[in-house]
Amino acid sequence: MKNRLALYGGRPVRSRFLRFHRSTTDKEEEKAVVDVLRSGWLTRGPATERFENAFSKYVRSRYALALNSCTAALHLALAGTGIKSGEEVITTPTGFASSANVIVHQGAKPVFVDVEEDTLNMDPERIESKINKKTRAILPVDFAGHPCEIERINRIARKYGLVTIEDAAHSLGAEFKGKKVGPLMDLTAFSFYATKNITTGEGGMLTTNNKRLIEKVRPLSLHGISRDAWDRYGLKGYRHWNIEVPGYKYNMFDLQAALGIEQLKKIDKFWEKRFKCVQVYNKAFGGIPEISTLSSKRYVKNAHHLYVIILKTELLKTDRDTILNAIQAENIGVGVHFRAIHLHPYYKKRFKFKRGMFPNAEYSSDRVISLPLYPSLTNSDLRDVISAVKKVIAFFRK
Ligand SMILES: Cc1ncc(COP(=O)(O)O)c(C=O)c1O
Repeated sequence: MKNRLALYGGRPVRSRFLRFHRSTTDKEEEKAVVDVLRSGWLTRGPATERFENAFSKYVRSRYALALNSCTAALHLALAGTGIKSGEEVITTPTGFASSANVIVHQGAKPVFVDVEEDTLNMDPERIESKINKKTRAILPVDFAGHPCEIERINRIARKYGLVTIEDAAHSLGAEFKGKKVGPLMDLTAFSFYATKNITTGEGGMLTTNNKRLIEKVRPLSLHGISRDAWDRYGLKGYRHWNIEVPGYKYNMFDLQAALGIEQLKKIDKFWEKRFKCVQVYNKAFGGIPEISTLSSKRYVKNAHHLYVIILKTELLKTDRDTILNAIQAENIGVGVHFRAIHLHPYYKKRFKFKRGMFPNAEYSSDRVISLPLYPSLTNSDLRDVISAVKKVIAFFRK
């Protein structure tokens, strides 16, 4: 039977599995990596510096520091700000593990603020009630590529003397009121993880316009020593270095940067393709009452990192996880962004978080599914995704 779900032995919509994500790299990336290999200098050096310069030019930030992940960038942002034990950082429960974990790494406490229903970004209305004498920073996430309420959050931070750290892992290329995300908060952290809008395999970037902050975080990214390897052994010959502060080993290296330089040249072209996919999905899912999708505010350019559907499980005979498994059985890869951080075992146990504390984050936590969204998706891939979702929803409709 054509409509029998693959989950229950029917024929899947696709014969070959469509991966949730596939990086788009080409001969330019291959050549750039080979050139670095042949140069005989693989760690942080001239290519990383070129990538930092190209990146800060693209996002129009004064400074950019290339790192081995966005998690490292977020951690350095907190460490460089001097966040310490006993202090509090306001963040969102709808994020990846990193944004809360790095706060814990500093010995500080993550204080969650619930999210807006329509964007799943931190709700600025709810921030001020969480601020007290221990609060040092606000760390919002640009969920799925939609910039958070940057202006309002900055205004609150200025009023209380707090630092703003933007988790822009999803939002490279996004704009807020015509300005690129990057220099708009005190510190901004980007990710080049394999699934991100551009990739270096693993990697991250920290941007800022603040000279004092960059001077604090730069040495912390490489053991807290006064010279990087290029500076110690490069063209100028050996020079002594000093440990100024006990830092971390978070630097990017030139092989990664070679990928980043080429990927960054393609970011706007990639965005066009993502946007087209989003339009196709929006049209297909717009009329399905059991599904809602996220909205974009009129004053932002959304980087469209993820395409998230929210299942109205009240109208369905089953839960999100069964639907997710059923779509996967149709040979369509999916993801879940995110199960709310405060409901994970460590956070429940350590900070006594409970279900019921952040209703919007919990609603989406139980209902979201992310569908494939990347530049190399073909029209036929998109048709398969849409057919699989429609088939599964029709089967479980009440
Ligand atoms: C919202 C968010 N923040 C931070 C990260 C961490 O990025 P990285 O893997 O580069 O450390 C991710 C990764 O998926 C993410 O989705």
